Amino acid sequence: MDRLRIEGPTRLAGSIRAGGAKNAALPALAASLLCSEPIELLSVPDVRDVRTMLRLLEHFGVASERGAEGVTLRPGGEPPADDAPYELVKTMRASVLALGPLLARLGHARVSLPGGCAIGVRPIDQHLAGLEALGAHVELEHGYVTARAPRLRGGCYRFDMPTVTGTENLIMAATLATGSTRLENCAREPEVADLAALLSRMGARIEGAGTATIEIEGVDSLGGARHRIIPDRIEAGTYLIGGAMTAGEVRVENAEPSHLGALLEVLDEVGCQIDAAGPGICLVGTPEITSRDVATAPHPGFPTDLQAQYMALMTRTRGASIIRETVFENRFQHVPELARMGAEISIEGGRAEVRGPTELSGANVMATDLRASASLVLAGLAAVGTTVVDRVYHLDRGYEAMESKLQLLGARVERLRGD
Ligand code: UD1
Repeated sequence: MDRLRIEGPTRLAGSIRAGGAKNAALPALAASLLCSEPIELLSVPDVRDVRTMLRLLEHFGVASERGAEGVTLRPGGEPPADDAPYELVKTMRASVLALGPLLARLGHARVSLPGGCAIGVRPIDQHLAGLEALGAHVELEHGYVTARAPRLRGGCYRFDMPTVTGTENLIMAATLATGSTRLENCAREPEVADLAALLSRMGARIEGAGTATIEIEGVDSLGGARHRIIPDRIEAGTYLIGGAMTAGEVRVENAEPSHLGALLEVLDEVGCQIDAAGPGICLVGTPEITSRDVATAPHPGFPTDLQAQYMALMTRTRGASIIRETVFENRFQHVPELARMGAEISIEGGRAEVRGPTELSGANVMATDLRASASLVLAGLAAVGTTVVDRVYHLDRGYEAMESKLQLLGARVERLRGD
């Protein structure tokens, strides 16, 4: 297994570009199951989750080809299979995004239940109840969800809580249903709006994506399209926090300020200078970071996917800060690893108290999930001495060429290849 060796402390300085958003690319790739014409997706990041989704699509008869600018998908005729096998779903929860489109296209689909994962139980009950509201008959047996509906029919569904992939699954299913569908309490993440933009190019009729209420008028078929995936706000946010952490100066050339409002507000309040007038976002850090409490929330709130990185930053500040995780119940696995580097953090339920300032010291640490791993890398950049982050495959799921981008910013980072 690969590891990353980081020599700290470093002051990050320079300019990089964020890749296309992983979390927008995954549903966009799944949308190719809804039609038989080619889909050209630009700015698809070359990360492990995307490769897993391409393998899943291949299983459903969608051929793909990566070119210089992105990925071309050739769905061909009807998908030859209707089942997403456990071997693929267990490595990537987002495989569940095949359920809505397959059901809409074929009238039946069988997808392995994702099961628990490192950051909590994460059920898919909302996806299933929503599909039932569109007339699907859903059964759970032998660890698989089987859904059937000769033709989905429009309906009304109100999510109990905003779920990102749940909203995406339902939108995709409703595009080919008869009549109109109204979805309420939807996730408002920019990735949902980006999926709707692609589907609209394919001929779908969708209104309100990016707001809490989305209306979809079903059509008989969808066609090919060309679409550029939005820049990855979480990747951009990670490098900006890296700039803050190391009192550096970082520009993310193509970052979209309107997607990062909550983070930029917080970084401004803790003492960083932010220039979001464009192009991109520029952050100038300070050695005198102030502490600031944060609670994660669905978009436009502070993203749970930046909580771990922000916690690493809070170890640098004078005084205590409280970080509350409200989206996932078990998303503090980075805490014991940060503690190995000297951080003082105590946890009570979904609340972490970080006491700073800490002079972090390099250590051997273990990556546990995607964003937790990113926080350890940031801590390693600020720490004195050598940090080795083990199990980098977690990072490779969602960060494209992280070590090269960090090197561009002046970091001393090296990948140690595993056997
Ligand atoms: C997506 C993102 C992930 C991000 C998360 C929250 C993708 C591929 N992944 O994950 O990076 O951390 O949004 O911003 O886009 N829930 C239920 N029942 C359901 C569905 C969700 O109880 O049927 C709960 C979850 O357990 C969680 C909350 O709702 O507590 C939000 O989860 P959700 O938005 O669905 O996360 P994902 O779409 O899996």
